[in-house]
Parts: sequence; C-alpha cells; structure tokens
Amino acid sequence: MRDILQTLGVNKSYGDGKVRQMVLKDVSLTVREGEFAAIMGPSGSGKSTLLYCVSGMDSVDSGRVTFDGQEISGKADTCLAAIRLSDMGFIFQNIFLIKNLTVLDNVMLPALQKGGESKESVKFRAMGLLRKTGIEDLAKRDINEVSGGQLQRAGICRALINNPKMIFGDEPTGALNTIAGNEIMDILISINKERGGSILIVTHDVKVAARAERIICMLDGKIESEILLGKYDDSSLNQRESRLSEWLHARSV
Ligand SMILES: Nc1ncnc2c1ncn2[C@@H]1O[C@H](COP(=O)(O)OP(=O)(O)OP(=O)(O)O)[C@@H](O)[C@H]1O
Ligand SMILES: [Mg+2]
Repeated sequence: MRDILQTLGVNKSYGDGKVRQMVLKDVSLTVREGEFAAIMGPSGSGKSTLLYCVSGMDSVDSGRVTFDGQEISGKADTCLAAIRLSDMGFIFQNIFLIKNLTVLDNVMLPALQKGGESKESVKFRAMGLLRKTGIEDLAKRDINEVSGGQLQRAGICRALINNPKMIFGDEPTGALNTIAGNEIMDILISINKERGGSILIVTHDVKVAARAERIICMLDGKIESEILLGKYDDSSLNQRESRLSEWLHARSV
C-alpha cells in the first residue's frame, strides 16, 4: 500500500519571539492508504496540533507534509481548503454542525459546496449514510433537536459525504458514553473496511485506540514510539486493550 500521508521533520511552535513554545519537534509520520492509526499521549503533548498541521489547517515552521502525493506544507489557504473539502473528512469533538439546518442539510452541505453533482444525487448518498449510522429517521430534524450521540453520527456522515481519502478525528468519541462511543467506532471501522479510506484519530481512550491497527505515542511534541496491533476483529478486543494498556503504562501515559 502506498502512503497517503507523510510528514518529514515537522517543527511547529506557538507564541511570540520571546516566549516561543516548541509544540512539534522533528515529527516524521507516515500513514498508509487504508490504514487506521491512532495517536495517544498526555494532554498538551501536541496531538491536536499534529492533526491540524497534517491536514493543512495550521501551518508548520519547518519540515514537509505530503498528502496523496502532493506537498501541502506552504500551499495557499484556498488550495488547502479545496483539498480538505474533497479529500479529507473531519470528526472533531465540537462538531461544527450548522444550527437551524436539518440533519440532512448539514450532511449534504460539503457536497453542495464542492459542486459538480445534482442535489438529488447528493441527497441519495446522504440518506444512505444516515441509514448506515442509524439516524435515517432524524433526517428532517433540526440539528438542535438531537442527542449528543446522534449529533456525532451526523458529524460522521458529513465527514464522509465527499468520499474522502482520509478521515481525521480529534477525540471523535470524547463526548459520548462507552456504548455510544463503541458504536461510533464500529461505524468508522466498517467504513474503513468497506471503502479502504485511511483514518487518523487522536484519543485518550484505550478502548477506542485498541481498535486501530497502529498506535502512535506522542510525548512532549515528539513521536516517542508506536505499537502495531494489526487489523481489528471483534474477538481480540480484550487482548488488544490489555496489550495497549501495558505499553502505555510503560510510557507513563
Ligand atoms: N493556538 C495556540 N496558541 C498557543 N499555544 C497553543 C495553541 N494550540 C495549542 N497550544 C499549546 O500547544 C501545546 C500542545 O497543544 P495540543 O492541543 O496539540 O495538545 P494535545 O496533545 O492535543 O492535548 P489534549 O490531550 O489536552 O487535547 C499545549 O501546550 C498548548 O497549550
Ligand atoms: Mg487535543
């Protein structure tokens, strides 16, 4: 499998000249096409910053970020926005769904923004995603009238509407209880299997990360190490969780 995402020696700092904080230090990371990887690490270790930098939402000080064979570091904002819209899907904890629009309209929006497809065809695909995530009945509901878990599902549908090559998630199950969180992970994994898209998520939750093929540990702005668990299948979850817990424990995470 080829690489979909690659960073090489990425450095990123915040603050002004006097008080500059190095947040990413020489980060090199590769995600293969179809791979499901998770980033873990203590609060403040730079996980979200890395996600923003690799998806072109934030700039890097030095180093290279390549997505789908194109270098994106240093590209203009409009160009990055177009790549994000068509090739990347985002599932963040504070899902920025638009109030006073229905669930269906929110899901359809990125496809309508991208253009080149009839509204009927977009609607058909959006309804298919709502069905898959179990919220088809809520299509016509205003976004204010659904639960946190349902909102998260709507966020996933919206992230998937343009068939992205890669999905980024920052604590995608963070606002949910364990059962709802597991359901969301099941949806993500089945989508990953069916469509072969890549997934990179940040999570603090061992149960969530244990479903990923590879877990990357960040400490103080650096990639400290990684563990390969291989493709997930339901039967091995307990084993994977205990292996991952031990590994994290050894790193004081
Ligand atoms: N926009 C910003 N301006 C200044 N400093 C920032 C900014 N964003 C993040 N930081 C700092 O960069 C460091 C890394 O933050 P980041 O959000 O990447 O951590 P994280 O690993 O995602 O933490 P958490 O697990 O708490 O979400 C922190 O010290 C944070 O305060
Ligand atoms: Mg974070």
